[in-house]
Amino acid sequence: MTQNSIQTPPLCPSKIDVLTAIRERRSIRRYSPEPIEEDMLNCVLQAGLAAPTAMNRRPFHFAVLRDRQTLSKLAAGKKHAWMLSEAPCAIAILGDKQVESRLEHLYADCFAATQNMLLAIHGLDLGGVWLGVSVDSEWYELITKILELPEQIIPTAVISLGHPRESRPVPDTWEPEKIHYETW
Ligand SMILES: Cc1cc2nc3c(=O)[nH]c(=O)nc-3n(C[C@H](O)[C@H](O)[C@H](O)COP(=O)(O)O)c2cc1C
Repeated sequence: MTQNSIQTPPLCPSKIDVLTAIRERRSIRRYSPEPIEEDMLNCVLQAGLAAPTAMNRRPFHFAVLRDRQTLSKLAAGKKHAWMLSEAPCAIAILGDKQVESRLEHLYADCFAATQNMLLAIHGLDLGGVWLGVSVDSEWYELITKILELPEQIIPTAVISLGHPRESRPVPDTWEPEKIHYETW
């Protein structure tokens, strides 16, 4: 159901710069029961909609899930999605195969939006985690059924989010052996 009829949300300044957000972001799986404020949610969605896409086709759609029963059913449908049972909100990142028929581009576009939203979530002092949706998994089928997705719309990822009830240290991810110059 499309129900967000607001005009373009104003820019939400984040307290941290983009590079700090990228370095600091961690997967946050524990949340307080507090709901996500509407303007914050719109800033997150806006970040998703600002992602780059192949040929600027913009094949993504985002389903905002706040219904407790829906979140619980999704939590029960996949072992590693347990945090949805206490999350106040989730966003399903959906791709339209009719708008982008090259699947590698469809997934790349949806994942660019997913990461943008995770960074926005962190920048807004919220917490979130990317939940993968394997193609033709039982969870893929469950999401398709619960969200009543039409044939051309595929679920590519789910973000679980809320006000954080845990904080996680920033690891050292600098691995020089993974950087190559000119040749392998
Ligand atoms: C494609 C993808 C699928 C993921 N699926 C899950 C998942 O199903 N459940 C989960 O708890 N975390 C999931 N994660 C989060 C990863 O576990 C997490 O990003 C990784 O452990 C690194 O931790 P960090 O995000 O805190 O840096 C997924 C991440 C990606 C990119």
